[in-house]
Amino acid sequence: MSKVGIFGAGWVGLVTGSCFAELGHEVVIRDVVPEKIEALRKGDVPFHEQQVPELLQRNAERLTFTLDVNDVADCELLFICVDTPPTYSGDADLSRVWTVIDELPNLKGRPILVMKSTVPVGTGEKVRHGLDSRGLGHVGYASNPEFLAEGRAVEDFMNPDRVVVGAFEEADGDAVAALYSGLEAPIVRCDVNSAEMIKLAANAFLMTRISFINEIANVCEATGADVVKVAAGIGLDRRLGPHFLNAGIGYGGSCFPKDSLALKQLASNSGYHFQLLSAVIEVNELQKRRVIQKLKKHLGPLRGKSVALLGLAFKPNTDDMREAPSIVLASRLLAEGAEVRGWDPVADGRALPRGVEIATSVLDAVRGADAAVIVTEWAELKTLARDEIRDAMANALIIDGRNLLDPAAAREAGFEYEGIGRPAALVAEPSV
Ligand code: UGA
Repeated sequence: MSKVGIFGAGWVGLVTGSCFAELGHEVVIRDVVPEKIEALRKGDVPFHEQQVPELLQRNAERLTFTLDVNDVADCELLFICVDTPPTYSGDADLSRVWTVIDELPNLKGRPILVMKSTVPVGTGEKVRHGLDSRGLGHVGYASNPEFLAEGRAVEDFMNPDRVVVGAFEEADGDAVAALYSGLEAPIVRCDVNSAEMIKLAANAFLMTRISFINEIANVCEATGADVVKVAAGIGLDRRLGPHFLNAGIGYGGSCFPKDSLALKQLASNSGYHFQLLSAVIEVNELQKRRVIQKLKKHLGPLRGKSVALLGLAFKPNTDDMREAPSIVLASRLLAEGAEVRGWDPVADGRALPRGVEIATSVLDAVRGADAAVIVTEWAELKTLARDEIRDAMANALIIDGRNLLDPAAAREAGFEYEGIGRPAALVAEPSV
């Protein structure tokens, strides 16, 4: 078992730290924000992520939270799990990474600095150079990107499709790979640049699938096909697979939007115009707004109309509102003069524009509403098409932005229903 230091007690750092502790490693998590460390010492986790509080509690004797960088001095592996947000130019802001390197304590032996944060290709080489020029040639460096999805991060960590380890020195890569020896997963060993690119390319490919199926959905709407059936049909092709083919109102979150811009910027900095990725991003932006057209189709001008946005987080099982489609939708609706009420079982909606009323229950959100929009596919919304809801609404219209409901059942229950890429209730007779 190893002693692992983690820089950054954010989502990535805490998931990584608690999972390494669960695997039996001793873990020291260091952050610069005193309130955060204090709260964690009391067992308070600052975000909603299944299993993390339990893991932190169960492995408390192997986990230390600290503000003091010297507490990680004897760790064999030092993981960088800090934010790399986009700058105004679209590049990733690596200032927090460099702060970690500048603050490294006096390190003995051959500790290995491991990059978990998502960084542009070439960062490892720059850090290697930075370490050498600071007299830290004895500190190893490896890239070990994370592929954890919010809401299922612990499960993803414990059952990974693969673990990617890129290193300059074979032995450093061996040490990082050994940390995961308790897990059954293929280990992809490669150079640092390739490890960095694997992370960016994986996310870009997933986004491409989403924008692709969303465009197919839009064509389905124009032609009378059902995207849910189409996705099932193409997903059975083993070369394609069934994942990330759920059409909807677009992706959001802390990773996809940021990582796609970073990869696009990385390519253009190197003189390459990444056309496909640019289209993927544009399709996603337009997709978020399609709900507005659908509402107008059913309700006419939206001024004075009351719309309930059901689900505010960017996806279910998280309270994360970063780049959530609900924010764009709420802003557009307010700009159209609509009254907007939002509901989410976990997210508090503070990130929404001023003027949105937050309801504490689905029923309160839809009371008197002219339309209910399913923005996030929370399990609680699966039973939305019921009498109580229909009777509470001024106009029983559901726009299902995640294709969560069965259209026939919703219509049977007396709702006007429209999903994404699904045939309208009455399909016109084909002309002969
Ligand atoms: C994503 C990746 O799935 C992780 O592998 C990666 O590690 C992570 O980004 C990251 O870079 O850190 P995450 O953003 O948590 O994870 O969420 P996803 O479950 O991938 O969903 C992203 C967005 O795509 C959500 O808004 C979701 O609603 C949307 N989506 C997903 C669709 O619209 N359709 C789909 O078929 C799948």
